[in-house]
Amino acid sequence: ERTPTGCPVSQRAADFDPFEDGYQQDPPEYVRWAREQEPIFWSPKLNYWVVTRYDDIKAIFRDNITFSPAIALEKITPTGEEANAVLASYGFALNRTLVNEDEPAHMPRRRALMHSFIPEELKHHEPMVRELAREYVDRFIDDGRADLVDQMLWEIPLTVALHFLGVPEEDMDTLRKYSIAHTVNTWGRPKPEEQVAVAHAVGNFWQYAGKVLDKMRENPEGGGWMQYGLRRQRELPEVVTDSYLHSMMMAGIVAAHETTANATANAMKLLLQHPDVWREVCEDPSLIPNAVEECLRHNGSVAAWRRIVTSDAQVGGVDLPAGSKLLIVTSSANHDEGHFADADLFDIRRDNASDHLTFGYGSHQCMGKNLARMEMQIFLEEFARRLPHMRLAPQKFSYVPNTSFRGPEHLWVEWDPNQNPERTQP
Ligand code: HEM
Repeated sequence: ERTPTGCPVSQRAADFDPFEDGYQQDPPEYVRWAREQEPIFWSPKLNYWVVTRYDDIKAIFRDNITFSPAIALEKITPTGEEANAVLASYGFALNRTLVNEDEPAHMPRRRALMHSFIPEELKHHEPMVRELAREYVDRFIDDGRADLVDQMLWEIPLTVALHFLGVPEEDMDTLRKYSIAHTVNTWGRPKPEEQVAVAHAVGNFWQYAGKVLDKMRENPEGGGWMQYGLRRQRELPEVVTDSYLHSMMMAGIVAAHETTANATANAMKLLLQHPDVWREVCEDPSLIPNAVEECLRHNGSVAAWRRIVTSDAQVGGVDLPAGSKLLIVTSSANHDEGHFADADLFDIRRDNASDHLTFGYGSHQCMGKNLARMEMQIFLEEFARRLPHMRLAPQKFSYVPNTSFRGPEHLWVEWDPNQNPERTQP
């Protein structure tokens, strides 16, 4: 087997399969061989070049003209005719948002829509996050056992995302139901028989998102990011287009929800797998902000992202012809010894932890990163204060097979409710 540039494909490159359990359980470990020996390799199973080192990935993020993000939301597993027909029957037309928009359209749009992410604006959401976190912990604190994902971490970031976007309360439950289908549709490998069901869910999600947007148009004075976009559209119709608004109404829910839910589940898993570190965090909550950063580095919720090469280029000495698709394994970059000393060590005092690439880098870097950080910090604070004695229950972790969005489907923890600080120190 040969690469598109005519070189032989190594056995490990030929075997690389990101839908396998090995990648799902631990992406940076799964590509350690590449990071160390063949940092950019061609994957015949995926038809992508796979990039694994920190400096190469940063160079790609820096140049969004040569390395376009246009394919960021493209289906990684092309679907069959039947599923495509189903999607078409719903008028599905998810197109450019921000994350997959090229210049010169992207930057003016990003600037036009940045206001909702400035620190003063994000502050409004803090009391709601805190209140939700307390309420959800109240529900299970006396049980001695909980699945933190099902009983808290999946739902709160979704509620926060819907509020952030400005979705009316009465539409929240329907949108909740549809959002997961989008992840499987975009980054997963649904079997042919699943594809049609996924297509129906995605089609419904698309139409419903359109209806919610129409409703917002009638009352664009609301406080959400979508209403802000609708108001900006009046001044800048060329920049904030209808297609953008409809696509973002759908993609925005996933961008804000699953990323943050997974990130918190990954963080709690990692902390509880290191009980000494968890104890330190509980004793000194001022360690939490950097601990969050180190969790995002060590075990982030976006494992890999995508770019397409627009003109012949070279990265790390490898020729990448125009049209090449790249899977840039940011989770591998985050474990690169060339950038992080003792990279596999989980060190909540690491001074360059925030150099991680889990939020991307450069002109497309995650706009919601500070909202995500705020949510994660509040969840950790509440757990540290109210359940410092919790520990991981014995379990095997499972993941939804896909290249990019990564977090355990369940996270079972247990504790002795008689030792709850609220009982022992009322
Ligand atoms: C872009 C990750 C939370 C909104 C991105 C990108 C990544 C990412 C990898 C692409 C970066 C690039 O191409 O350089 C994450 C992670 C999150 C998170 C790991 C949680 C831990 C959020 C939240 C929101 C959000 C809460 C919204 C409220 C966006 C937007 C973009 C983006 C709008 C597109 C920016 C652009 O292209 O200019 N995010 N995200 N994200 N994210 Fe996030």
